[in-house]
Amino acid sequence: MGNKIEISGLEVHYGGKPALNRVSFDVHENEILGIIGPAQSGKTTLLKVINRTLEFVPEATLNGTVKLDGVDISTVSDVYGLRRRIGMVLPLPVGLPLSIYDNVAFAPRAAGIRSKSQLDELVERCLQQAALWDEVEDRLDTLGTKLSGGQQQRLTIARALSHEPEVLCLDEFSIAIDPVTTMRIEEVLKTLRKEMTILLVTNLVQQAKRLATRTAFFLNGDLIEIDSTDVIFSDTPTQQATYDYVNGTFG
Ligand SMILES: Nc1ncnc2c1ncn2[C@@H]1O[C@H](COP(=O)(O)OP(=O)(O)O)[C@@H](O)[C@H]1O
Ligand SMILES: [Mg+2]
Repeated sequence: MGNKIEISGLEVHYGGKPALNRVSFDVHENEILGIIGPAQSGKTTLLKVINRTLEFVPEATLNGTVKLDGVDISTVSDVYGLRRRIGMVLPLPVGLPLSIYDNVAFAPRAAGIRSKSQLDELVERCLQQAALWDEVEDRLDTLGTKLSGGQQQRLTIARALSHEPEVLCLDEFSIAIDPVTTMRIEEVLKTLRKEMTILLVTNLVQQAKRLATRTAFFLNGDLIEIDSTDVIFSDTPTQQATYDYVNGTFG
């Protein structure tokens, strides 16, 4: 399996305060990489580096390299194109004050797609992929913000998919949704993995155990351990801190 992303010597500081300490690892093509660790361990920062949204944080400084398909992302001049290739789903749904249809059609329209039939097809496909289609197909004109929290999070995923990303980053996507919806989205991710690479930051260690091919454990900006999920959740990961964290005896 090839590497989709290669990270080496990645260091991030906010106003001189370290958030990631010389982190190096690869993300394989078509894997779900689980990223676990307590709050403030640098997980969100890592995702922001990968889709170059850390650039919106003026006090942040960065060293090291991140390569996407072998190309150093800092040398990519089309930053918007890069961010389309790397979709991001945030912890809370970000509903555009638009209809369900327009939420999903927004990006394709901005990319120049005008044909109604093409847009219809794309909207249906993305909503299907996000396991939301059946619940909304007869009310696509309704405001997205009128949906339930779990539905809005699936709409957010559908919108991320409308960019046809190669990498999908999810940052604690289930923090505000119920367990049943969480399970539905987990099923969605298992299917999406066949088409893209997924970085799954999760506060639920069991979610990483259920979904991730490999799992990375972060603590205070250090990558403590990365291995197959089986090893990370076994009785004998390499690091004691990993064992303590996944078994809930941490700190
Ligand atoms: N915009 C910011 N300005 C200053 N410090 C920040 C900012 N964002 C994150 N940090 C700090 O960076 C560290 C890592 O944060 P973060 O990446 O959000 O971790 P996690 O997602 O694992 O909770 C924390 O100490 C946090 O306080
Ligand atoms: Mg975070």
